[in-house]
Amino acid sequence: MTKKKTRILLGTKNQGKVREIKKLLRGFPIKFIDLKKFKDIPSVKENGRTYRANAGKKALTLARMTGEIVMAEDSGIEVKALGWRPGIYSARYSGRGATDVRNNAKLLRELNGLPVSKRQARYRSVVVLARAGRVLMASQGSCRGRIETELKGRNGFGYDPLFIPEGYKKTFGQLPIKIKHRISHRARALRQFKKKLIYVDFFRK
Ligand code: IMP
Repeated sequence: MTKKKTRILLGTKNQGKVREIKKLLRGFPIKFIDLKKFKDIPSVKENGRTYRANAGKKALTLARMTGEIVMAEDSGIEVKALGWRPGIYSARYSGRGATDVRNNAKLLRELNGLPVSKRQARYRSVVVLARAGRVLMASQGSCRGRIETELKGRNGFGYDPLFIPEGYKKTFGQLPIKIKHRISHRARALRQFKKKLIYVDFFRK
């Protein structure tokens, strides 16, 4: 008899994230489905004060709405010279109707004239797994680097054309995606996620 794979719903509409999460968890003995299967599902309002609170809310709300086991991720970029902003507000950094293009333009504007030595930043990611009113597990990762003075490269998504990871001279937008998948905040959070998953009791009430 073949054993049916456990299935997990990826609780995000951000296609950049979906692409990366699916790639990073490829070969793992879990079937991942995405929100395309649930067309009319509303977006969950992110009003928490931490990545953990937002990821937890997204996972628990979507688990309740769909009856699935849900994995949600909340992430952002934090820039030292901006008092570690925008953080949890990264997706909405440039205000109503924010896009990656506008967010990147605003970040460049806010750091205008600042020397490279003062442009330290980090990406952070928190992943939460939830089922029917209960958080089953959480994991996190971060990636240190700095902000370029102009957009460079087309790989990745979001702030990647501006983010130079520590130890490199090119942005995630320029570096082969293989490198991002090795060292990114999301890669680190998901490595921890995989290690912890074997201890999760999916069926405990
Ligand atoms: P949220 O987790 O849906 O609130 O969105 C996180 C936001 O942070 C994204 O929309 C991006 O702007 C930014 N972000 C998070 N991770 C990455 C990444 O790996 N590359 C580029 N931008 C990212």
